[in-house]
Amino acid sequence: MAFKKIKMILQKFPFMKTNKKGSLKYFVYVVLTRRILLVTLLFSLVLSAIVHISVNNDLYDRVFITAHNRFETLRARTNEYREKEGVSLQQAMDQAISALSLIQYDKSIGIFVYYQINSLNEGTLIDRYDDNYPDIDRIKRYIADTQFQFSKDGSTLQEIVKLDGYSYVHLVMPLYNKTGNLIGHLRTMFSLTQSTMDQLKGEVYATIFYAVLIVILTTAILYPVIVNLTRKLAAFSIDLLDSNIETLRVLGNAIAKRDSDTNSHNYRVTIIAVRLAEKVNLPSQQIESLIKGAFLHDVGKIGISDNILLKPGKLTESEFALMKTHVEKGLEIISRSKWLSDAKDVVGGHHEKYDGSGYPHGLRSDQIPINARIFAISDVFDALTSRRPYKKAFTFEETMKIVMEKSGTHFDPELIDHFKLISAKLYQELINKDDEALRKILHGIIQKYFSTGIDSLSY
Ligand SMILES: [Fe+2]
Repeated sequence: MAFKKIKMILQKFPFMKTNKKGSLKYFVYVVLTRRILLVTLLFSLVLSAIVHISVNNDLYDRVFITAHNRFETLRARTNEYREKEGVSLQQAMDQAISALSLIQYDKSIGIFVYYQINSLNEGTLIDRYDDNYPDIDRIKRYIADTQFQFSKDGSTLQEIVKLDGYSYVHLVMPLYNKTGNLIGHLRTMFSLTQSTMDQLKGEVYATIFYAVLIVILTTAILYPVIVNLTRKLAAFSIDLLDSNIETLRVLGNAIAKRDSDTNSHNYRVTIIAVRLAEKVNLPSQQIESLIKGAFLHDVGKIGISDNILLKPGKLTESEFALMKTHVEKGLEIISRSKWLSDAKDVVGGHHEKYDGSGYPHGLRSDQIPINARIFAISDVFDALTSRRPYKKAFTFEETMKIVMEKSGTHFDPELIDHFKLISAKLYQELINKDDEALRKILHGIIQKYFSTGIDSLSY
C-alpha cells in the first residue's frame, strides 16, 4: 500500500510521468536518474564508512599518545622510587601509580580506569583499577571475562569496546627497556567522556554530511551533461538506423525495379510475412531479421542477366539453373554488411520447400529456418493474388485453394493453419493499396520492430 502511495505521488512529477518502458525518455529520465541516485547512495555509504574509520583512527592516536606519555611518566617515577628507597620493582610501580593518580593530565578525552603492566618474564606486575570511577564494576567484569593473551612481539592492539552502551578504548602497547629490548606490555582501558563521544559523533555526522553533499552536488552538475550526451548518442543512433533502413529500401527496391515497375510486391510480402510471424508469436528480434530478409529475398537477382530475368517465356533447364544462383549471389551480397547479414535465413532459404524438393540445398521441414518457411507462404500468396504480365490475379478463394493444396509439400502445415486464420483479413487490407499506402503500413512496422541502439539497451 505504502509503495503504491509513493508511486502515485511520484507520478505527479513530470520526470516520472510520461514514459513507457523501453523508450528513450524512459531511459533518460527514469533509468538513468535511478542509476545515478543508486551510485550516489552507494558512493556516499562507502565514503561514510571511510570517514568513520578515519575518525576512529584519529581517536586511537590521541589515546595512544596520551597513554604513551603517561607510561613514560610512570616509568620515570618508578625509577625514582627504586633509586631513592631501594624498594622492589612492583612496590615502586605501585607507589608511582598512586602518585600519578594525583597528577593532572588531559582528561578532556577521557580517563584511564584500568592499568595492567605485564612483564614478558614475570607475568602480571600491576593490575590496578581506578576505584573512583563510578562504573568500575563494569570494567572489572570485562577484564575478568576476557582471557587476554599478550603477544610475544611488539605489536599494538587498539579497539573500541562497547560495554552497556558506553564506549571504551582497549589499548595494549609494548614496553621497551632503555636498551630497546621488549620487556612487556601496558594494557589499559580508557573511558571516553560524554563530550568526546558527542564530539566524535558530531565529527562523523558532519563529515558524512559534507561528503554526501559533495557527491550530490557533483552528480547534480554532471547529470545534465550525461543526459545531453545520452541524447546526442541516441540521435546519432537513430540517424545510423535510418541510414541502414534506407540501404535496405534502396537495395530491395533496386531489384524490384528490374522485375517490375513497382515496389508493391516487396512491400506486401514483407507486411504479410510480419503478420504471420506475429500470429505465431515470433520474438521481435527474429521479426526484425524477417523484415530485412523479406525486403532483400531476391537481392541476388541483381547478378542475373536481363535475358534470363526478363525472359517472357519459360526458362530452359540451363537458364533455370542460372536463375537459381540468385540465392547464393544474394547471400554473398548481404554477407558484406554486418547489419544486413541476419537476412540470411530468408535470402538463403526462400526457395526451399517443406518436403525437401526446393533449392539450393533441398532442406526439409525444420531444417528450413522458420523465417524462410514464413516468407515462402507470403511470397506465393502475394504472387498468386497479384496480376503479372503472363497471368491474371487469382481471387482470394482460388489463391487459398492452391496454398492449401501445397500445405505439407511446399509449405509448413503448422504455419498454414495459422495463416488460414489471418489470410482473408490480410487480403482485404492489402488488395487495392498503392505503393504509397503500402509504404505507410511498412513504415509503422519498421518503427515497431527496429530498435535504435539506445532503446535496445538492457536495463
Ligand atoms: Fe527468389
